Amino acid sequence: MLSQTLRDARKYEEEMERKIAKEDRPDFHLSSRVGWMNDPNGFSYYKGEYHMFYQYHPYDSHWGPMHWGHAVSKDLLHWEYLPVAMAPDADFDRDGCFSGSALVLPDGRHLLMYTGVSKETQPDGNMKDIQTQCLAIGDGMDYDKYGSNPVLTKSDLPEGSSKFDFRDPKIWQKSDGSYRCVVGNCTMEEDGRIILFSSPDGFHWKYEKILANNNGRYGKMWECPDFFELDGKGVLITSPQDMLPQGFEYHNGHGTLCLTGDYDDKTDTFTEEQNQAIDYGIDFYAPQTILTPDGRRIMIGWMQNWDTCNLHAPGQPWFGQMSLPRELSVHNGRLYQKPIRELEKLRGEEVRHENVIFTDVIKLAGVEGRKVDMELTVRAVDPEDVYRKFAVRFAQNDVYRTSVSFRPHESIVKVDRKFSGSRRAIIHQRRCLVNSRGGELKMRVILDKFSVEVFVNDGEYVLSATMYTDLAADGISFYADGKVNMDVVKYELI
Ligand code: FRU
Repeated sequence: MLSQTLRDARKYEEEMERKIAKEDRPDFHLSSRVGWMNDPNGFSYYKGEYHMFYQYHPYDSHWGPMHWGHAVSKDLLHWEYLPVAMAPDADFDRDGCFSGSALVLPDGRHLLMYTGVSKETQPDGNMKDIQTQCLAIGDGMDYDKYGSNPVLTKSDLPEGSSKFDFRDPKIWQKSDGSYRCVVGNCTMEEDGRIILFSSPDGFHWKYEKILANNNGRYGKMWECPDFFELDGKGVLITSPQDMLPQGFEYHNGHGTLCLTGDYDDKTDTFTEEQNQAIDYGIDFYAPQTILTPDGRRIMIGWMQNWDTCNLHAPGQPWFGQMSLPRELSVHNGRLYQKPIRELEKLRGEEVRHENVIFTDVIKLAGVEGRKVDMELTVRAVDPEDVYRKFAVRFAQNDVYRTSVSFRPHESIVKVDRKFSGSRRAIIHQRRCLVNSRGGELKMRVILDKFSVEVFVNDGEYVLSATMYTDLAADGISFYADGKVNMDVVKYELI
C-alpha cells in the first residue's frame, strides 16, 4: 500500500514537472525532476533498464526531508522519470530516507537498502538523528518497506562507533551467492571508517569487520562508500566530510577519495596501497557505481558540492544534476575515468583542426556551442621554449566565460568559472597537478549546457564544474601565452 505522503509527492512532482521546459535542463545528465536532488542512489540494472534513484526533496530547491526520486534509462544518457519511489513515511525513516543502493534478488524482485533517519531525544535533552539501515522491495515502480526494518542498528556496530553517523549502505552479491554491504561510519571522535556486513539472503545482516579506517588522514566522517574489484585491485571509494587540503590532491571541505589495494575475496580483507581524489573540479560528490551486463564498471556522482550548493536563488524549479556516467579502469593502482562510450552515439558532425599554431587568442571555424564533446591535444612548438599557458574558454560571450587552463611549467590544470555569471562568494576555481611531458597534454571537454567535465590524459584526472551561464553565451576560444600547437576534434552533441 502506498502511503498518503508518497501519493502526495507523486502527484506534486507530476504537476510541477510540466512547468519546467526541457530547454532549461541539461540534455544528457540526469537532473532533479522537480525541487532538490543530491546523491545518486540505488544505481542498478533491472528488467532491461538502468535505474537511478536519488536523494530528493520535491517541494523545494533546497535540501529537506529526503525522498528517493527515480528515473530509468536504456543508455545512461537519456532518462525518463518514474514516480518518486520512497517517502519518509515510516517510523524508522520519518526524518528521511537517506542514501543507499539496490540489487536484483534471485526471485526477480528489486531490493533497495537505505538509511532510515529518525530523530530521538538524547539523555542531554538534545534531539539528534539516529541512523539505521532499512530495506524496501519492489518491482521497478512501487516499493514496500520491509516489515522487519531496520535490519542494522547501532547495536550491530563495533565498539567505539558513532550511532549518529551510520549511513549509505552499498550492497553487492558475491560469486558464492551471499551478500555484502559497506556502510559509512565514524568513531566517537568523528574519524571515518567503513564497516562491512554480510548476509546469506539480503535480508538478515550481520557485522563482519571494519573494512577501512581513516586514522585521521582524509577528513572526518566518510559518506557514501562503494567497494568493488576492478582490474585485479580492490577499489574503495568514499566521500569524506571536513577535509583539509593536501598539496593539490585534496581540497578543503567535502571531497572524494579512492583507495586502491589488494583484496582477498575469501576473507574480505582489503589492504590499502594507494590513495587519490576521484574528481579534482568543484562539483562532484557521493559517486556510486554499477557493474553493467557487459561487464563495465560505471560510476555516476552528484555534480555538486555541499560547501557551495545552498546559495542558489530561491524559487528555482529544480536544483541538482548527476555527472556523466564514467567508465572506470585501474592502471598501476590509479583509477581512470572515461566518459561512457554511449556518448559517442550522440556525436553530430565532426569539426577538425590540426596543427593550429597560435600565440594569443583565437577562434576556430565550427567550434562553438553548449552541448559539445571536444578533444584537445596541445604541445609546445619549440621544446626548448615551452609556452607558459594554454586555455580553452567556453560558455563565452562579451560578458561571460568559463575556462580550463594549463600551465606546463607548473603542470597545473585549472577550471575557472569566475565569469560564469555567479553572484555568490563561493568557490569558482580549482586546480589539479597533472602529468605532462614537455608541455604536451590531452583533454576531453564535455559541455552539457550547465556543466563542464574535463578528462585529462585519457581519464587520469577529471575536473567537473557546474555553471549557470546564460545559454546565449555559447562561444569557444583558445588562448596561448607563448607558442602552442593544438589539434582540436569537436562534435556537437545531439
Ligand atoms: C551525502 C549525504 C549522505 C546522506 C545524504 C542525505 O551527500 O550526506 O551521507 O545519506 O547525503 O541526503
